Amino acid sequence: MSDITVHYGVGATIGGMDLRSLSDAQVDQIRSTLGNHGVVFFRDQELNEVDHISLAERFGTININRFFAAHPDHPEIAMVLKEPDDDRNIGGLWHTDHSYDHEPALGSILVARDLPPVGGDTHFTSMFAAFDALDDEMKEFCLTHNAEHSAHHAFGTEADGYGESDPEYEGRLGNAAAADELKNPIHPMVIAHPISGKPALFVNIAFTIGIVGVDPDESRRIIKTLYDHATQERFVHRFRWEPGSVAFWDNRAVWHNAMNDYAGHRRLMHRITIEGDPLHAAAA
Ligand code: SIN
Repeated sequence: MSDITVHYGVGATIGGMDLRSLSDAQVDQIRSTLGNHGVVFFRDQELNEVDHISLAERFGTININRFFAAHPDHPEIAMVLKEPDDDRNIGGLWHTDHSYDHEPALGSILVARDLPPVGGDTHFTSMFAAFDALDDEMKEFCLTHNAEHSAHHAFGTEADGYGESDPEYEGRLGNAAAADELKNPIHPMVIAHPISGKPALFVNIAFTIGIVGVDPDESRRIIKTLYDHATQERFVHRFRWEPGSVAFWDNRAVWHNAMNDYAGHRRLMHRITIEGDPLHAAAA
């Protein structure tokens, strides 16, 4: 077994692994760490693009991103890019990727390629801990309700302040018509995590648009309450990127938020997303 350091808030760092040559036991260790801690960090890795793709394939089928610019030679790799003269970044708000899909992606493996001299950290927060810390009444409410998720307002032609329709993202985000065509899924507000079975809150401010059977204003109020609750410092880990850093997060267990605090500098990350499994409600 490799060394594992569990972080305050969320996540764990695994040391002593070369991600280019994992044994089956190491793949199992990473998978179970995701299922228990939500995000796994690695340092001092030397992954080229082909290694990155091979690593992702050890965990499932690669999801070719529909909205992000693709790597020119490797469509499996989505480019998370901010150039020195861009104002806004990609993923600069709390969210979980792909909750707008009927089978949301398992997670993503993000590799640092070009980092600003300071800033550009990524925050993660635990949906296991956030659920555990809810009071009994809110737990009961969440366990017995479903929520609707959507990509229309984020990536579609009507998106406001993000996506292809915003010139700020020209060349970085696109394919708005594909977002318009997506049928909104309904997911349980609390899922049994597909790896560990642990209950995890499964709503997020970016893509959850309403709670089924609840008046829209009340639904927005509850989602905002959950958002304020889940982003408390006690559930959060701030990951500082260095050359060779890799983060592998599980969308069913964490939210993430990329800091936009490096104006005038370039930041390029390579992201590969892995397909997920059907989600099931946690037992009420
Ligand atoms: C993302 O939201 O996928 C990007 C995270 C990051 O750039 O740190």
